[in-house]
Amino acid sequence: MCGIVAYLGKKSAQPILIEGLKRLEYRGYDSAGVALLGGGAIRIKKTSGRISALEGILDEPAGGESLGIGHTRWATHGEPNTVNAHPHLDYTGKIAVVHNGIIENYTTLKTWLQNEGVEFASETDTEVIANLIGYFYAEGNQDREAKKSYGQSYGLLTENKFEWAVQRALQKIHGTFGLAIVCCDFPDALIGAKKGSPLILGVGDNEYILASDAAAIVEHTTQAIYLADNEMVTVRADGFGTKTIDNVTVAKDLKQIEFSLEQIELGGFQHHMLKEIFEQPKALSTCMGGRIDRRNNRIKLGGIASYLRELTRTKRLILTACGTAFHASLVGEFLFELLARIPTETEYASEFRYRNPIIEDGTVVVSISQSGETADTLAAVEQAKERGATVLGIVNVVGSSVARATDAGIYLHVGPEIGVASTKAFTAQVAVLTMLAIELGRRRHIGSNEADKHINEFSQIPDKISRILQQSDHIKEIASANIDRDNWLFLGRGFNYPVALEGALKLKEISYIHAEGLPAAEMKHGPIALIVDGMPVVFIATSGPQYDKILGNIAEVRARGGKIIVVATEGDKHIKSALGRTDHLITIPDAPELLQPMLTVVPLQLLAYHAAVLRGHDVDKPRNLAKSVTVE
Ligand code: AGP
Ligand code: GLU
Repeated sequence: MCGIVAYLGKKSAQPILIEGLKRLEYRGYDSAGVALLGGGAIRIKKTSGRISALEGILDEPAGGESLGIGHTRWATHGEPNTVNAHPHLDYTGKIAVVHNGIIENYTTLKTWLQNEGVEFASETDTEVIANLIGYFYAEGNQDREAKKSYGQSYGLLTENKFEWAVQRALQKIHGTFGLAIVCCDFPDALIGAKKGSPLILGVGDNEYILASDAAAIVEHTTQAIYLADNEMVTVRADGFGTKTIDNVTVAKDLKQIEFSLEQIELGGFQHHMLKEIFEQPKALSTCMGGRIDRRNNRIKLGGIASYLRELTRTKRLILTACGTAFHASLVGEFLFELLARIPTETEYASEFRYRNPIIEDGTVVVSISQSGETADTLAAVEQAKERGATVLGIVNVVGSSVARATDAGIYLHVGPEIGVASTKAFTAQVAVLTMLAIELGRRRHIGSNEADKHINEFSQIPDKISRILQQSDHIKEIASANIDRDNWLFLGRGFNYPVALEGALKLKEISYIHAEGLPAAEMKHGPIALIVDGMPVVFIATSGPQYDKILGNIAEVRARGGKIIVVATEGDKHIKSALGRTDHLITIPDAPELLQPMLTVVPLQLLAYHAAVLRGHDVDKPRNLAKSVTVE
């Protein structure tokens, strides 16, 4: 995720900001910048790329600049370029802001401000915050706003115009923010505010470090206050005060930062992959956030709004991707055909690009890629465009090559995925495909009532994933009991067939155990010859139309000595009788089969993770693999 570091104290702020941002590099970012205050002026330096690129454009710290804010950006709105990098100045040039999070109503606010004559420089949602604060700070707007909102003159409301402007702006914002804000008229004031994105104030000896992560604080102080949602802090040279953004004073206790730097960077997890597996409930909530209108039970996918009509009328969909993204696409294929009755096929990008694909009028191609830099996927996009297809993207990295090459797209908004083995991106890709399929289904086939039912079930997925994650220790024991076996099978049917493929890939790529995923019914067409005594065979045997059939497949494998590891539905009364004494059972909360992939994949992610750790492998950087395969 992105990072915030701000400093107010007696030392030169610039080097402290840079060192603090370097402590946050592990979180992934695409641009960086700092703003320094001294002599009543704000000096901003920012650039796309790494912190080393930022260091290359910095001036020598001017004396007296002991107040500053810094940022590493993970773009959500607007390309990762210098203009969109943070800090952002407001239109008066008096206010500078760095921001973590997503402003969901930024287009409405931006239009309103533009109608008030405010001009914008960037494409970001963050600049709306800066300009909104600047608007309420600008002469003449306070009284009008105070009388309209509180029926009394501004002068009675607060002694601090800067703080008031921040409060008024934040009261109008929907979305998430971690903010550090400075104003050139208050050279000894630093304001932080938090809602849905972490913000911590390190309290040192006459110096303060405001940051999104304790990793940037611990080398200065281990005393800190943790802001809660809708709280803000105003830091001055001689102390700080905490309030709600509605100007209600709140008392905050100083807490001891106990983690080591190494632990903090991983949020207390042993590896990024485990952190990202456990991030999935929050990541999916962010991915869904602002896209599901529960009041009207509608799905809003702004990024492709202008293509919805074409999608609704399309005669054929081609989904193209690689690896884990291919498995997510296969779930998408089943979703589009079930809900929208659109003929859909999923193609390995590496095959699609060389096969002189047939793309007739009315075909829409959708490319799915976490990194947006996979060479084969990018080449498939180019091939599809050359043949006149409309090409859409489902991508995590904003401004990536696939995002830029496609006609339009939907961003996952799940933050950087650092572990080489893709986890939260898979569930988010499936979530986006699910939202799209429900919306197209509503327009083409299933109608509103059924769509509403699916949206209601879909909204419960993040909480259901949280419940599955509680079985991590149990799954670790299952891994431990089977990691001595070098050949595993993963079997599933229907919507869980792609999950079987994904489970096999996860195990292969980080534990180096050979594993194969198959449709369970395929066993008798050859693979059953592989079954030997004690061979681990993972079945996804959750509730669904083929449940009885998969019980039969389990029996076939047990009869030949296979060791069964089964993922079943909580409360299933039959499954235990299908298992032997040494077999293993993992359960997931019930859900309609079409939504199960986001759930059934989680135990398989954990199984692979624990197997790899128990085998002593570098989970986050497995041998021979890169996070993004930018070569063919
Ligand atoms: C998945 O765990 C692997 N890291 C790999 O299969 C990956 O999914 C594939 O390379 C596609 O990457 P992309 O989603 O960034 O295009
Ligand atoms: N939404 C803001 C942007 O796209 C902030 C992204 C972040 O959290 O870094 O610039």
